[in-house]
Amino acid sequence: MKTRVAILCGGLSGEHQVSLISAFNIARALPRDNYEVQLIGIRKDGSWCWRPEGDLLCQTQDIREIHLDPAAETLLPRQLGRLQNEQGKLQWQADVFFPITHGNFGEDGSLQGMLRLLRVPFVGCDVWGSAISMDKDVTKRLLVQAGLPVTPFITLRRNETLLYSEVVARLGSPFFVKPTREGSSLGVAKIRKEDEYPQALKEAFSLDHKILLEQAIIGREIEAAVLGNDAPEVAEILGEIIPNHEFYSYDAKYVDPNGAILKIPAEIEASVASRIRDLAVESFRVVEGLGMARVDFFLTKDNQIYINEINTLPGFTSISMYPKLWEASGLSYSELLHQLVQLGLQRAAV
Ligand SMILES: Nc1ncnc2c1ncn2[C@@H]1O[C@H](COP(=O)(O)OP(=O)(O)O)[C@@H](O)[C@H]1O
Ligand SMILES: [Mg+2]
Repeated sequence: MKTRVAILCGGLSGEHQVSLISAFNIARALPRDNYEVQLIGIRKDGSWCWRPEGDLLCQTQDIREIHLDPAAETLLPRQLGRLQNEQGKLQWQADVFFPITHGNFGEDGSLQGMLRLLRVPFVGCDVWGSAISMDKDVTKRLLVQAGLPVTPFITLRRNETLLYSEVVARLGSPFFVKPTREGSSLGVAKIRKEDEYPQALKEAFSLDHKILLEQAIIGREIEAAVLGNDAPEVAEILGEIIPNHEFYSYDAKYVDPNGAILKIPAEIEASVASRIRDLAVESFRVVEGLGMARVDFFLTKDNQIYINEINTLPGFTSISMYPKLWEASGLSYSELLHQLVQLGLQRAAV
């Protein structure tokens, strides 16, 4: 019998549409010899829906226009992957969920906690790895404790203030301001002058009650792809993001079609690349990673390496870095998806 996979997409975060694009690609590429696949949408209000007889996703070619079909039927998730309609009638049952819900509620452990309660296996990090990695402050504290290199940082809570002059004294100038639990560069600002500081604080605090101030690293942005549970592996090939903007901002990521170049493979000296790959696996373990993660680095001219952040539900469009790195390392998009589903099932069987 084929394994029934429910791809969960959309969600409540600002990355709802990125998620739909990722899911559209995954649904097409999961090998049908092994899998029966259904797309399940999570609307922006958190309710679930599907369209078994038609296309759940509309305007799939445009990230700004893609959306869940408003006519999709509401589904209620129940124990063991059973999916009911609003009258309580069983509609379908999933053997495994594949959440591809970037950002808050979908990548931060919330959805993962719900899936645990439903007692159904799922792909990717569990509650702990998701929650830890979503919080850049907690992630950094754990990485520091493990002796791994991170950018010098200061954590500020909403009731705390720090003068611009004190920040510059401790971190130098320029520095970055960012919310601790966001993604897609939302609320991230590079501060070069004192008068940019108050507005940046205001914006970051409007998204989170805890923010980071970080030394700006002058260097390249390098990304590594990790896959596995107990014995995680890292893709041989590393990638580089070359933004055409001041930094890899929201606009550079999604709005400007020429916002950044993804360079695969990244041209890096073999010994440095090997160190980055080792750090990727070590940090995956430190944050309790399972299944997959994309680990992002800064690399300076004199080969100083800093871990920037760990993404437990990386972008999964056909042009996204995570699947591209595996493809370049010899693992096709379909085979990668197959392995991810199997890793989710294996973990649940323990
Ligand atoms: N300390 C830093 N030094 C240099 N660039 C940074 C720093 N922090 C963030 N950036 C820039 O901002 C982008 C987004 O920041 P990041 O911490 O990765 O947040 P997000 O989770 O939103 O991707 C990075 O890809 C990089 O271009
Ligand atoms: Mg980032």
